[in-house]
Amino acid sequence: MENIAILTSGGDAPGMNACIRAVVRTAIHHGLCVYGVQSGYEGLIDDRFRRLGTTDVSNIVQRGGTILHSARSTRFLSTDGRAEAAENLSRRGIEGLVVIGGDGSFRGADHLSREHGIAIVGVPATIDNDIWGTDLTIGFDTAVNTALEAVDKVRDTAAAHDRLFIIEVMGRTAGFIALQVGVAGGAEDILIPETPTNLPAICSLVRRRVAEGRTSNILVVAEGDEAGSAFEIASKIEELADLKSRVTVLGHVQRGGSPTSVDRVLASKLGWGAIDALMDGAWPCFVGEMNSIVTRHPLADAWTNRKELDPMLLNLASILTN
Ligand code: F6P
Repeated sequence: MENIAILTSGGDAPGMNACIRAVVRTAIHHGLCVYGVQSGYEGLIDDRFRRLGTTDVSNIVQRGGTILHSARSTRFLSTDGRAEAAENLSRRGIEGLVVIGGDGSFRGADHLSREHGIAIVGVPATIDNDIWGTDLTIGFDTAVNTALEAVDKVRDTAAAHDRLFIIEVMGRTAGFIALQVGVAGGAEDILIPETPTNLPAICSLVRRRVAEGRTSNILVVAEGDEAGSAFEIASKIEELADLKSRVTVLGHVQRGGSPTSVDRVLASKLGWGAIDALMDGAWPCFVGEMNSIVTRHPLADAWTNRKELDPMLLNLASILTN
């Protein structure tokens, strides 16, 4: 293998740039030539490639977003779209591809690899942390810290006004961000899709706490919670118990910003791991980190297995939110 390409796909995550840097520099260290693909699978289909050298990836380890840009491609879902992508790779003599993204991106990668024999290694990057086979995904730690900073600030104003706040965090259908932020931020309740949400019980608890003198209450809600969005929950709580609240939806602020050291180091290790897997001929696969060891898994494991929340943290949350 002489030429490889790299792309970032799906929702961006802080640390993607650190990973691009590690992939490019490790590949060059092994004598490979690297092409960056612009805007994920869209650029693969539209033939938007550029050569990347070590200097092209300097001064990016600390930057959020992705220098390669990202996209969610519907064209890549079709066999025709993937055939065009494969043709563009083959014309340049590119045999290997590193895909940095979430499980949706890995599905596309799996099809491309099986249909056209391209050596593909996936690197899990999403703020949601919902990929099995890695303790953390790239971007999760930064997103959690960004959300936590916001929760701490909201706490100040909640305490000053003796208010109930409902703070919505991202996570798609998973509660990893909400659970981590809720425990770290001392939330009075954490509402996540993985556990049933009992709004009447939450209202009684809020009333009890207020009666006991804990007059600021913060509920951290995962966007995928079955009780609805933070705004819907706020109106249900008002209807049920005549409790007024303020809502803060953190939204895409959680996706941006300079990555934490945890994300930068994880991204660097996994970028190295992706090249290591390519050089070993271990493709198609994705790399992860479990108990500090870089691991390799079949791409399909990312969507056939469901990553569970830490049961210890769940139990702790139920004790500490009392
Ligand atoms: O998967 C990352 C994520 O930020 C989710 O938490 C969120 O549900 C989704 O992407 C938002 O996607 P978009 O940026 O396309 O609105």
